[in-house]
Amino acid sequence: MSRVLLVAACAALGLAACGGQPADPQTAAPAAPPSPAAPDATALQAQAAALFQPLPAEMTSDANPVTEAKVSLGRMLYYDARLSLDNDVSCNSCHGLDSYGVDNAPTSTGHKGQKGGRNSPTTYNAALHVAQFWDGRAGDVEAQAKGPVLNPVEMAMPDAAAVEKRLRAIPGYVTAFAAAFPGEAEPVTYDNMARAIGAFERRLVTPSPFDRFLAGDAAALDAGQLAGLKMFLDTGCGTCHNGTAIGGGSYQKLGLVKPYETTDAGRADATKNEADRFFFKVPSLRNIDRTSPYFHDGQVGTLDDAIRLMAEHQLGRTLTGDEIAAVRSFLGSLTGTIPTEYIAPPELPASS
Ligand code: HEC
Ligand code: HEC
Repeated sequence: MSRVLLVAACAALGLAACGGQPADPQTAAPAAPPSPAAPDATALQAQAAALFQPLPAEMTSDANPVTEAKVSLGRMLYYDARLSLDNDVSCNSCHGLDSYGVDNAPTSTGHKGQKGGRNSPTTYNAALHVAQFWDGRAGDVEAQAKGPVLNPVEMAMPDAAAVEKRLRAIPGYVTAFAAAFPGEAEPVTYDNMARAIGAFERRLVTPSPFDRFLAGDAAALDAGQLAGLKMFLDTGCGTCHNGTAIGGGSYQKLGLVKPYETTDAGRADATKNEADRFFFKVPSLRNIDRTSPYFHDGQVGTLDDAIRLMAEHQLGRTLTGDEIAAVRSFLGSLTGTIPTEYIAPPELPASS
């Protein structure tokens, strides 16, 4: 969301404390205690429909149409540690598909035990985002997939040609690439590897109770979750965390209202524009209660702390323990179903 849209969304929600004006703790309205009466589900549904959309069955791309052959190849590549120099790190090492697409570590361990500087975000629903990585430096999941394989602290392959050479030496991959990219003179390429992985990721969706709520089932959220949704909206979280992914749609400054201490320049690293310092892609909140620890550096251990810090640094609000618990219970309704069959580890083609 652009700055203009953000301010408009703040106005629509009647929020004085968002949009970049530091809230004055002296004059800020005291936080209302959570209403003991169950909130009106139908009214909340209408309010939610203006900000959020339910998940699609797959996240399509005109540039890389999803086909069964690409998906089946992409699944193998996602799980194959032979894409790493020492044959010991795969995409799944840091984005475990049976653990909501993350490794639950502050920062991930890659080639020769090295640690990167940022927390590994989930691959589930990631194709919905405006761009990939915390700083948005890759445009889509296909462009993203070319990064980790050559990253010296992740999979550490020396260059694209070395990856192609390795894949071409595995007869099962030669067949699978030819099936996925029919009619191409040389289907086993680094770009096609990324296309196949991207196609596989485009079906990594996790429909949740909140999707059923958005689709019309007012009973999909219980009273506690409804109260939490109301708190989430009233507090202003939805000005940044919105859309289909409940986030992922814009870059915002971490520490918008109250500075947040970090040494990571965020989006400024990608754009080389000083104005982007401390801006990060707003993360999706889908499955958030399963993807701890939090923030770009993985330094926030619990969801309660993440909610508290967000209210304070992004909105100039101090939430009570009850209010935090309410928001947490709404966020729990964003935890979806893992597509167990779709992510079942495939048999990998034998090395020759
Ligand atoms: C050693 C751990 C590690 C490995 C291996 C790894 N990743 Fe990641 N991945 C990360 C980290 C850390 C980030 C965030 C880095 C950043 O934003 O600068 C990330 C970011 C991503 C994102 C962006 C998600 C978002 O919300 O922006 C996607 C998608 C992704 N990885 C997919 C993959 C795929 C596909 C592979 C295999 C080709 C892979 N990763 C291999 C650690 C890893
Ligand atoms: C002005 C925009 C903005 C507002 C308002 C906002 N957030 Fe965030 N949120 C962000 C950004 C940007 C990040 C990424 C922070 C980082 O770089 O670590 C984030 C991160 C988070 C995270 C951690 C996600 C993860 O994967 O690590 C949670 C949880 C979260 N926000 C919840 C909330 C809640 C709850 C509210 C309301 C109290 C809220 N946010 C309000 C922009 C916002």
